[in-house]
This record gives sequence, C-alpha cells and structure tokens, in this order.
Amino acid sequence: MNMKEPLILSNARLVLADEIVERGWIIAENGAITAFGSGRAPAGAEDMAGDLLIPGLVELHTDHIEAHYMPRPKVHWDPVSAVLSYDGQLAVSGITTVLDSLRVWREEGADDVGGEATLLADAIAKARDADMLRIDHFLHLRCEVPMPDVVDETRALIGRDDVRLLSLMDHTPGQRQFRDETKLRDYYRGKAGGLTDAELDVMFAKRHQQAALHGAKNYRALVELARQHARPLASHDDTTAEHVTHSIDDGVAIAEFPTTVEAARALHAGGVRVLMGAPNLVRGGSHSGNVATAELARAGVLDVLSSDYVPASLLMAALCLPQAAPGITLPAAMRAVTKTPAEAVGLNDRGEIAVGKRADLVRVRMAETVPVVRTVWRTSRRVA
Ligand SMILES: [Fe+2]
Repeated sequence: MNMKEPLILSNARLVLADEIVERGWIIAENGAITAFGSGRAPAGAEDMAGDLLIPGLVELHTDHIEAHYMPRPKVHWDPVSAVLSYDGQLAVSGITTVLDSLRVWREEGADDVGGEATLLADAIAKARDADMLRIDHFLHLRCEVPMPDVVDETRALIGRDDVRLLSLMDHTPGQRQFRDETKLRDYYRGKAGGLTDAELDVMFAKRHQQAALHGAKNYRALVELARQHARPLASHDDTTAEHVTHSIDDGVAIAEFPTTVEAARALHAGGVRVLMGAPNLVRGGSHSGNVATAELARAGVLDVLSSDYVPASLLMAALCLPQAAPGITLPAAMRAVTKTPAEAVGLNDRGEIAVGKRADLVRVRMAETVPVVRTVWRTSRRVA
C-alpha cells in the first residue's frame, strides 16, 4: 500500500501495554500510530472481524538464520537467499523486529555455523539496503568468552551500525547451561555428524584449557568493548551468585536463560531483565534440564521471552503465558515479547500500541490452540 494513505483498522481486540480495548479501531499515518479508540469505526476502515491486534513482536535472541544458511550438515545455502527465507518465516510468526544472533567465534572440528558472522551480517545488510526485507533486522553478537580470538572477532564487528546487543557466553563443560556434562555430550552426539566420546574428551579438555587461559581476561575486554561502543550487554546462562554479581556490576541489560530460580530472582531484583526461552514454555521445560520458563513466570521474575530456535514459539508462548502463570494478564504477557525487549535494547520507538509509536502491527486469530498470524504491518506497510 501507499505509505501516504493512512492505515485504518477496526473491530479488533487491541492489546495495549496494560489493557485490552474491545471493538477497537486504530489509525496510522506515515508509519506511526496517530489515533486509536473503541466503538464506531472511522470511515474507510478495514474490518478485523474481532481478531486480536497486537504490537509487532520484538525478538532479541534467535539463531534460526543458521537453519536456513546451513540446511544440512556442511551444506551452505546462498546467504542472501537464506536471509530472505528466514525473514519471511519471522514475519509470518508475528515478529517485526529481530536481533539476528550471530556467533562471532570459530571452533575447529565443530560442525556448526561458527566464524561466519561477517558473511551473514553482510548478507543481512545487502538485503536491507536493497529493500528486500519484510521486517527490521539488527545484530546480536554472541561472544563465547573463553575462545582465543573472540575479542578480535568482536572488535571487527562491533562498529557496525546495526549491532544492538552483545552476549557474553561461556559453555565450558561442567558450568552454567551444562553443569551436567552428560547433557553437553548428548547435545554434541545428537547433532548430525555427531562427535564420538573420544573426540568429545579431547574437545572438552581443550575447552577447559581455553577457559583457564582466556576466560577472565576476555570477559573484561568484551565488557570494556561494549562500553566503548555504547552497546547493551547480555549475560548468558547465569547460575551462581558470582555470575549474578558480575552481571549486575557490569550493567548488563538482559540475563539470557538463567539456569536456576535463585539466579533469576537475584537478577530480576537487581534490575536485570530476565529472558527465557519461549520453546521451553510451550514444551513445558528446558531441553538442557535447567529451570522451566513457567516456574520463573510464576515466581514473578520473567521479563522477556525469546523464540530461541523456533520462531513460531514466541507468539504461542505469549498467548499461553496467562494460563501457565495465573496473575499474568494478556497485556502483561504481550509486554514480554514487545515493549520490554524493545526498551532493553534502546528501541523506544516501538513495542506498544500507543500514539506516536511505530505502526508495527499483527492481526492474530486463534485456530484450535494455535495462533494464526493473518496480517503483518511494519511502519503501516503490509509485509505479510
Ligand atoms: Fe547457553
């Protein structure tokens, strides 16, 4: 549609940041919301037939692009084509802003998309510059702290305009996400072309050595780099009181996937937004045997949901959160996938239905128990 023509929608259940407007209407002009209300529809409105109208979802942590770029082990797809199909999948999942999570380190022998962050970041930029994308893309640099070259690799990427978040990860066996080392073994064994136990022994020994050699030094260097470039930081898999103290003292904006209820409580109380996996909520637990998203929601310490590896999980999880955690209203559940993640990374122009905010909107209808995304607008332009 023409950007100059206003977008007018009516007869929708509008999900605002703290209430639902029944029989709601909305007007957006030049990409921003200019008015909304309830009752008699303005002239020329498109009838939403009572469907939910929600703000476009904001996703901070998904590596799903890798599934499109490497659809089979060792098979690399054209990166721009991969970006487009990934972008389309996010759009039909109701996501209008994404932080594409790219691993900035490389690891010998691991059959992963590692060390190709620059190639993927370039493909995203190319698609964006040519107006090929349906939704808004930013970058989230995933930094595996103990890796020998991680600081240099991060330094090479952090100056890009679209970098919005740095996460500091440490997957050393026996720690954090993989306190139970057998879970890490299962993870690597289960991957296509999986490693044998003997190969894993070698790899794990090397990981321990790298952590001892580089962990503390790289951690400080990465925190400093983020500070110099004014980029928000995320911690990852916080488990112990020491992890929590570091995260609070170093001013991290988001704690991704804390592994225990104690860590999550302390982070939340310390002003760090707690992010948990939407698949964990939909599936009813963590695939690595850590704390359940629903448990943190019931404890009142869940701030942000992330689709992680299943784009469709974000909307599903937000809509089932009020049942999973009585006391959480639908507007509060939607905030965990819109306003709160947007604000955490400084995107204050979006994430809620309010006058002056971007007209990033999603029309949703429930079919059986599955939400169906029927229409998506980004800055009032229809994109799905
Ligand atoms: Fe992790």
